[in-house]
Amino acid sequence: MSAAELRAFLEQHTGFRVPEDRWQFLAARFLPRIEARGFDEVADYVSYLDRDEQGRRELDELLGLLTVRKTSFFRNAACFKALRMTVLPQLVADAGGQRALSAWSAGCASGEETYSLAMVVCAALDKDERDGPAPYVLGTDIVHEALASAREGSYPLRVLHDVPEHYRGYLRGVGQRAWVREEVREVVEFAPHNLMQPPPRPASGSWDLILCRNVLIYFGIEQAREVVSRLVRVLSPGGYLVLGHAEVFTDIDPELEVEFAHGTFYYRRRGARSADPSGGQDATRRWGGPSAPTAASRRDVSRETPTRGYQRAPLELLASDESDTRADTRADTRADTRSGDRERPHAEILAARALREEGDEAGAIRELRAAIRKAPRWAKPRELLAELYLEAGDHEAALFCLEAAIDAAPMDPRPHFLLGDLRRRQGDYRRAEVALRRALYLEPDYASARYALAWVYSLSDRLARARRELRNVLRTLDSVPEARLTPWLEDRSANELRGLCRQAQAEWS
Ligand SMILES: C[S@@+](CC[C@H](N)C(=O)[O-])C[C@H]1O[C@@H](n2cnc3c(N)ncnc32)[C@H](O)[C@@H]1O
Repeated sequence: MSAAELRAFLEQHTGFRVPEDRWQFLAARFLPRIEARGFDEVADYVSYLDRDEQGRRELDELLGLLTVRKTSFFRNAACFKALRMTVLPQLVADAGGQRALSAWSAGCASGEETYSLAMVVCAALDKDERDGPAPYVLGTDIVHEALASAREGSYPLRVLHDVPEHYRGYLRGVGQRAWVREEVREVVEFAPHNLMQPPPRPASGSWDLILCRNVLIYFGIEQAREVVSRLVRVLSPGGYLVLGHAEVFTDIDPELEVEFAHGTFYYRRRGARSADPSGGQDATRRWGGPSAPTAASRRDVSRETPTRGYQRAPLELLASDESDTRADTRADTRADTRSGDRERPHAEILAARALREEGDEAGAIRELRAAIRKAPRWAKPRELLAELYLEAGDHEAALFCLEAAIDAAPMDPRPHFLLGDLRRRQGDYRRAEVALRRALYLEPDYASARYALAWVYSLSDRLARARRELRNVLRTLDSVPEARLTPWLEDRSANELRGLCRQAQAEWS
């Protein structure tokens, strides 16, 4: 009996790309299960999962085994700081007390993220606004068992350590459990939803805020692109989309712009939403009660209102982490990214490189300009052009190219790195630090960016931070395999960079 058909079905159904080693482990558990259910053929078992009422329950159990549901309250402090300090104040101001705020936590696992979000939303509404329309926070997941524990709203007492002091009042300790208080629970609803299906909408038609964190890292590249497109479709103009800090896209949808704040980044849909009272108080909810959606309401979750024509630009998932398969996932994703570059003018890039080697800089510039005309949203030719200008000492032209590269592909870490390097050369250490930090938000293993940051600290007389950053570079060099690090070493070997760090350590001690 071969499990390939089952794997294909599960991948198609959930969007996951199951790494080979994990599949080997899972298949060893699934196959006896198929036999125990009395199926001789995997194909029959698959159609049972797909079409039979009992089979659906079986599918849910398989999904429970397949998915990774690691989560916690206020996971990734920088994200919640950005929500508290920037995103929610902006949304509250946009709503002007006239309409209900709506937020969706997609792939919510056992609910910690959804309740954290609801706490931040509740706290953001000051007393006056609390008299206005009640906010609405939806948590969805593909695994029913996870939703059942989310709805219960009770967690081991130790979770209190994850909750910032400011929000602890939203939990109530009873015996060994911490219970989410009613004032938070009453704005929250949980419902099943598969991100491969059309997304839910709130009664107002579109979401002010969507969190979809640490879900897409398990998806195939195409599936991840499609999910992001679907999310953008149900996001309000001026609304925010927050992905996991490791779920980095380049060539982001033209509807979205990236914002960097509080040590993290998130996306905002272009345009502004007015305070429209039509999505107000009584129209907030689309489904019944906060904790027990009815059968009808469940159906609603996956029914999409037809939308206006929507244009989707390709996205590239660059990096991921979280799972044990971190390095593999990244490598696979890059391979996909390459195969998605069919329309990119690689020939011009190769020609420009060859001409540069031969010392024909004018020829190289000509080729790069041609490449930019053909693929204006591709950062690569702009980066290379900036490098040529940097070599020639033309800082102004290099700056122009890098800013254009960042505009074209804000989630590509390299132009941020080059910009940081340029600012350092110009002696503008404040801007150099900002640019290098952005490169590092986007690619924490960018060893050369970390090394450049250490220099920026040293040059601006912050030696303790400079030394700490050098230690971080060394830690990265020691812990990440060199094959994975190569793109982030900027033509040096790991050993060369290690030597430079040791030398700087000796000088700065
Ligand atoms: C690692 S958890 C992330 C939980 C939370 N978002 C966080 O960042 O802490 C990933 C969750 O995504 C859910 N998930 C995976 N595939 C999904 C899909 N196709 N549709 C909806 N949820 C999915 C899993 O069941 C799991 O609970």
